[in-house]
Amino acid sequence: MTASPSTATVLGIETSCDETAAAVVSERTRIRSSVVSSQVDLHATYGGVVPELAGRAHLELLTSVVADALQRAGVLPAPADGAGRAPRPSLDAVAATIGPGLMGSLLVGVSEAKAMALAWDLPFVGVNHLEGHLFAALLENEAVEWPLTVLLVSGGHTMLVSMEGPGRYRQLGATLDDAAGEAFDKVARFLGLGYPGGPLIERAAEAGDPEAFVFPRALLDDGLDFSFSGLKTAVVRAVRKRPEASDADVAASFQAAVVEVLVAKTVRGALAAGAKGLCLAGGVAANGPLRAALTGAAQELGIPAYLPSRAMCTDNAAMIAAAGWWQLEHVGPSPLDTAADPALRLPVVA
Ligand code: KG4
Ligand code: ZN
Repeated sequence: MTASPSTATVLGIETSCDETAAAVVSERTRIRSSVVSSQVDLHATYGGVVPELAGRAHLELLTSVVADALQRAGVLPAPADGAGRAPRPSLDAVAATIGPGLMGSLLVGVSEAKAMALAWDLPFVGVNHLEGHLFAALLENEAVEWPLTVLLVSGGHTMLVSMEGPGRYRQLGATLDDAAGEAFDKVARFLGLGYPGGPLIERAAEAGDPEAFVFPRALLDDGLDFSFSGLKTAVVRAVRKRPEASDADVAASFQAAVVEVLVAKTVRGALAAGAKGLCLAGGVAANGPLRAALTGAAQELGIPAYLPSRAMCTDNAAMIAAAGWWQLEHVGPSPLDTAADPALRLPVVA
């Protein structure tokens, strides 16, 4: 029997980039399992994600990642006796990221999710990856007051969003060029630190002086949009001028410039939108100095800061299952011919 939506159990699948992930979430926010298999080692040799390799790796990994998530969640019934057919797990829907992301990677997750939905006679829910990131903080903080100003900072996106409730988003600002995570990755590659750059820059910066270099803070006093493309060029120029400078000082000064801009814009956006809370989302939200600065800014504004745990900041499938759960209840299932869309945008209200 299918559960009522509020108690529904949803399997989420995420394969938009280089994490192969599956998770089971019940009753809106109860994470029963969350399995993430990272392809970082596979792509590290190339200094970035190689789309062709990512797609193939998802294909190899996804079935066992899903089996693991179902097993850990305890939703698998006892094996059917000798029928040879996989028994139907206790689920109410299968949700998968349909975009944005790499086409070859998205297709793997979407196809497998649809196949499972069809085989188990369950609804399929196509989830927007960006909306998934917005749900990550809600998974761990149930009672929030709206609107929230959310800084969504990942490897592919940098957006400032006023979340007026689940499913109701207003875009306040966005990057005009590079995403914040992309800037971390590019500078880390230039310094020869490795991939992905964010955590490596953060670690290198711990021993550095954030005031050793004064890097540009683009558009700091101008509106709610961001620009990071000039920052990498400034880092390259500064290092060529002072080749004796330590990686730690460069990393710390670069990180300080990014964090200052991100937090200043979030505060400006929150004031403009009348925010009742600040929220972080996306891989860069795992950054310690950013988390600390945003927490301080929220305190100054007298509103709470909702920071997802680090595991919920980077790509995972629990956030996809949570967004899928909400969509199932408020919008309904997606047709089985819903296509993957690499350029899918966050749906915004006027
Ligand atoms: O959300 P995510 O896992 O994947 C995308 O949807 O893009 O974000 C990945 C990005 C990468 O650019 C990575 O360098 C960055 O998040 N990142 C960080 C940290 N951890 C991951 N950036 C700064 N500090 C970190 N600790
Ligand atoms: Zn992401």
